[in-house]
Amino acid sequence: MDLNQVLEQARQEAKQITSLHELAELKAMFLGKKSVLNELMKTMKQVSVEEKKMLGQQVNACKVELESIFLFRRQEIEMLAIEMRLASEAIDVTLPGKQIAKGSLHPLTIVQQEIEDIFVGMGYLVEEGPEVELDLFNFEMLNLPKGHPAREMQDTFYFDETTLLRTHTSPVQVRTLKKAKGAPVKIICPGKVYRRDNDDATHSHQFMQIEGLVVDKNINMADLKGTLLEISKKIFGDDRKIRLRPSFFPFVEPGLEVDVSCFQCGGSGCPMCKQTGWIEILGAGMVHPNVLEMAGYDHKKYQGFAFGMGIERIAILRYGIDDIRHFYTNDVRFLKQF
Ligand code: FA5
Repeated sequence: MDLNQVLEQARQEAKQITSLHELAELKAMFLGKKSVLNELMKTMKQVSVEEKKMLGQQVNACKVELESIFLFRRQEIEMLAIEMRLASEAIDVTLPGKQIAKGSLHPLTIVQQEIEDIFVGMGYLVEEGPEVELDLFNFEMLNLPKGHPAREMQDTFYFDETTLLRTHTSPVQVRTLKKAKGAPVKIICPGKVYRRDNDDATHSHQFMQIEGLVVDKNINMADLKGTLLEISKKIFGDDRKIRLRPSFFPFVEPGLEVDVSCFQCGGSGCPMCKQTGWIEILGAGMVHPNVLEMAGYDHKKYQGFAFGMGIERIAILRYGIDDIRHFYTNDVRFLKQF
């Protein structure tokens, strides 16, 4: 048998093989018990000592060569597998990235920030207060003692006798005055408030307000009116008029409600303003002397005005939204429009 032929055959067949499993089978075929070489060794008994020696050397050399052929191919197959794996796991850093869906500001945040900007431009500071509030600040120090009938208009969730979810941003008036210790104050306070109101198109059990408070010497109704006119023009446009109507809030005297001329119809009457030509946007008034006194201010020297506007109400008017509940149901088809 020509051992060179055996080697050549092994080389050719090894080249075709691409898996280690197949390579093991091939190796057994050439070097195992039933291999050609083994068969050749069996014939050795019949030859002379001289020939046996020579044949033995040739077979051994062939075995060594076969081993190296299979080892070499094994390394090639392993290398190939690594290369394939690297290629399949490679990251192409030049590919364009996946688009991340961009969010946008909530319409209430947009309106809140716009109103804050207007007031900051007029020299107001922005204050904050807690949503879990003391009865003392939400009612009592706002001239609404326990048992006052006006409390019924603003029922809420009570944690215990003294603590509740605030019903308006007005307790921040008290907190700010106490902190200012008799000094002049000029603040706004945006935030969430809660009421036991039944939800409908214009009412929500949770909504947002922006409170305003100015306390200083020689503050009067004209300052309040001028401020409110300026604000409504900035929010709703230069040709807006405002109308002040007497109203009652225990923490102001006199108290008023403020309407802005309807921007939809210009005042002639339409469904938006319920044919009145006016839309109510906020409550306001001159700070009640009792509130000033309870917070440590001499009401004979200091006066002030305050107002509280509903942010949803303003956003509804601004964008022509037909139901307040849209703000809270998180429907992206609605939110995407802002
Ligand atoms: C008050 O809450 C007073 N604290 C406002 C105030 C401040 C008066 C300072 C005087 C001085 P009122 O309950 O009217 O007032 O609420 C003010 C605004 O909040 C309303 O004009 C309306 O825009 C909004 N609002 C009231 N209740 C709801 C509700 N359930 N859902 C949505 N918005 C509401």
